[in-house]
Order: sequence, then C-alpha cells, then structure tokens
Amino acid sequence: MEASSRHIYLLGPMGSGKSRLGKELAPKIGFPFLDLDRFIEQTHNTSIQNIFDTQGEDAFRAIERACLIEIAALPPAVIALGGGTPCFFDNMEVVKATGYSIYLRTPVALLAQRLSNAKTERPLLAGKDETAIREFLTQQLSYRERYYGQADTVVENNGKLKAADLVRLLINPTTEHTEKGTE
Ligand code: S3P
Repeated sequence: MEASSRHIYLLGPMGSGKSRLGKELAPKIGFPFLDLDRFIEQTHNTSIQNIFDTQGEDAFRAIERACLIEIAALPPAVIALGGGTPCFFDNMEVVKATGYSIYLRTPVALLAQRLSNAKTERPLLAGKDETAIREFLTQQLSYRERYYGQADTVVENNGKLKAADLVRLLINPTTEHTEKGTE
C-alpha cells in the first residue's frame, strides 16, 4: 500500500512513543490524529484501567478489536494503536488492509525507564518497578515482535526520533527503511 493512500498506523509496545509522535506527525501531513486507547475510552465512557478491572483483559481485547474496525472505516488519519492491538485476532490484517504501518522499535531499557516514570495508568504494569517492567517487556516482546515485524516499515526509535523523521520516511518509504532519529 502506498504511504499516502490511507491511514498511517503507529505500532509498538507501551512507551514506544506512538501517541506522542502520532500527535506531532498528523498536522505535519494534514491528517487528523486518532489514538485507539482514547477512542475506546470515549466511546465506552470509561478508562482502559476500569475495563480491565471490571471486565478483564479478554473483554478489553474484544472491545479494542471492535474499535479498531470502527476507526479503520473513518477517513484517513494518523492512528496510534495500543501496544497489544496488532497481536490479537487478525487485527494486523485489518491494519495492513487499511493503511501504512510503522513499527517504532524501541530498546527495552528505554521503554522500562519511561514507563516506570509515566503517569498514565497501564493495567498490565500495575505494581511493577523498572526492573520488573524490563523483565515483563522482554518476555512480552519475544512474542509480540512477530506481529510488530509485519509492519510496512520498522523504525529504530532510540529516544530521539522526531515526527519530522517519520515525514521523511513517508515521503520516501522505499529508500529509508529504518530511521535513527536526528540529534
Ligand atoms: C496495552 C497497551 C496500552 C493499552 C492497554 C494494553 C498492551 O496501550 O492498550 O493498557 O497490551 O500493551 P499503550 O501502548 O498506548 O500504552
């Protein structure tokens, strides 16, 4: 799929910068920005944390799937997926059929550092310190990488990646398959 023809999906684990970079990227390319987690919270009028607490992860994944289908049918947007979205059902097929996907591959140490300082509530990380988060993510990525790796482009996110780097990549997707980020 051409980089400009449909949605731009950002995927990657919790803390990989999907929402932050997506928010910056969208106005640069004249697209609206949509965050799947926020879409879920708005349409269900509750928090992700509350869905996990009251209905459990399986119910959350079903809701996430339904919201992905809804979002995919909207006009072209930059869409930040949840960390687990590509890894359940055939969600990655939906992503690939409706847009151009970018995996923000980020070192686990950086993810763990960011997530242990993050204010956002993430049910899968509740009660974990930085070391426990690092172990959890290492294990999780060993499974999830096979889904993330199906993205149209893999971008190395060393923490310095900017939306402008993603714009360059979208303009010239064939020559820039990885992006190290600018100083
Ligand atoms: C999850 C990631 C979260 C959110 C939920 C589950 C995951 O999104 O969808 O807490 O399974 O990795 P972010 O990646 O935006 O934190």
